[in-house]
Amino acid sequence: MRPTRAEIDLEAIAHNYRVVSEVAGPAKVLAVVKADAYGHGVVPVARRLQQEGARGLCVALAEEGLELREAGIHTDIVVLNGAYGHAHGEVLAAGLTPVVYDIAQVEAFAAAAGGRAFGVHLKVDTGMARLGVPLAELGRFLERFGAIPGARIDGLMTHLACADSDDGFTAEQLQRFTRAQHVVRAHGHRPKVLHAANSAATFRHPSSRYDLVRCGIALFGFPNAPGVEAALRPAMRLRSEVVALRWLEPGAPVGYDGTFRAARRTLLATIPVGYGDGLMRMGSNRGAALLRGRRAPIVGNISMDLTTLDVTDVPGVAVGDEAVLFGSQRGPDGELARIDATEVAEACGTIPYEVLCAISRRVPRFYGPGPASRS
Ligand SMILES: Cc1ncc(COP(=O)(O)O)c(C=O)c1O
Repeated sequence: MRPTRAEIDLEAIAHNYRVVSEVAGPAKVLAVVKADAYGHGVVPVARRLQQEGARGLCVALAEEGLELREAGIHTDIVVLNGAYGHAHGEVLAAGLTPVVYDIAQVEAFAAAAGGRAFGVHLKVDTGMARLGVPLAELGRFLERFGAIPGARIDGLMTHLACADSDDGFTAEQLQRFTRAQHVVRAHGHRPKVLHAANSAATFRHPSSRYDLVRCGIALFGFPNAPGVEAALRPAMRLRSEVVALRWLEPGAPVGYDGTFRAARRTLLATIPVGYGDGLMRMGSNRGAALLRGRRAPIVGNISMDLTTLDVTDVPGVAVGDEAVLFGSQRGPDGELARIDATEVAEACGTIPYEVLCAISRRVPRFYGPGPASRS
């Protein structure tokens, strides 16, 4: 078997959950586990969070919620993007809580409920301009909602576009959300919970915490909140091993299109991981891996299955050595070296969310406490 794998530290996720719960309190945390728990593997992550007493989970798709129910997850699950197609009956039967933002969705749920009462969370667009009933259309939406038998607004929510970057815009969004609450109440609805905050808002905007916060990236170790020190631990470590070593003479090219040429006599290591595994190709000639606790630059273009590293400055490097693409590694003297997903993202012009979600199905996930949890 290929020695490439993603090691997922479930204790780090549980720890991060406790950190965000502490920050958010008295608000409770909905753990956002969409997109296979940001690449960490949704079922083991959800089980660990349920064991930790998570107030609920959020997924994007009905099918993600159904997968969790089939795996025996019984906690509340909010389906953030509602139901597409004809899944309304299945969503209600599985006890998932749908988010709605369009009257046709509410009608479809009512038809599926066949006269029985059902609860939804209503999403209002306060500036994200993606999903959500626009504030200007909220009154009209609620008039139509009131005529649908059985439909009940259990939650009112919005999503913040710039909680990590623009405090002024966030304040405007929260003001619009306050107006939305008035409109909803004026139409006779009494939502039991209000929620708006993602991870960044949970850390940076206390007034956005309301009853529930929806945290995703923070659970996986990244607060996404500039200026905030948070004791979070990255939960995924991507590792492989050296399978070949060769010396290159000065001027020799490496990989497809020869985008790297050895400037000196260079020791090159090949590791069996590539963009087919979700390693960002943009990291070619920019990123690095850890070997024996040292950084070895990625040289040449990353290919689908293989990546090459300049290991000239790694003393004693040998075939079979572990190479860490992100995560931590102990060097020979016990020192801890680290490359985290934020650093990879910066090198690749993207965000840590994409670096984590990109790790493909071909990479087996191994679960347990990682080195940080053990030490
Ligand atoms: C509606 C909604 N709420 C919450 C989140 C969680 O965001 P974060 O991972 O930044 O905490 C997301 C993720 O994109 C989302 O789409």
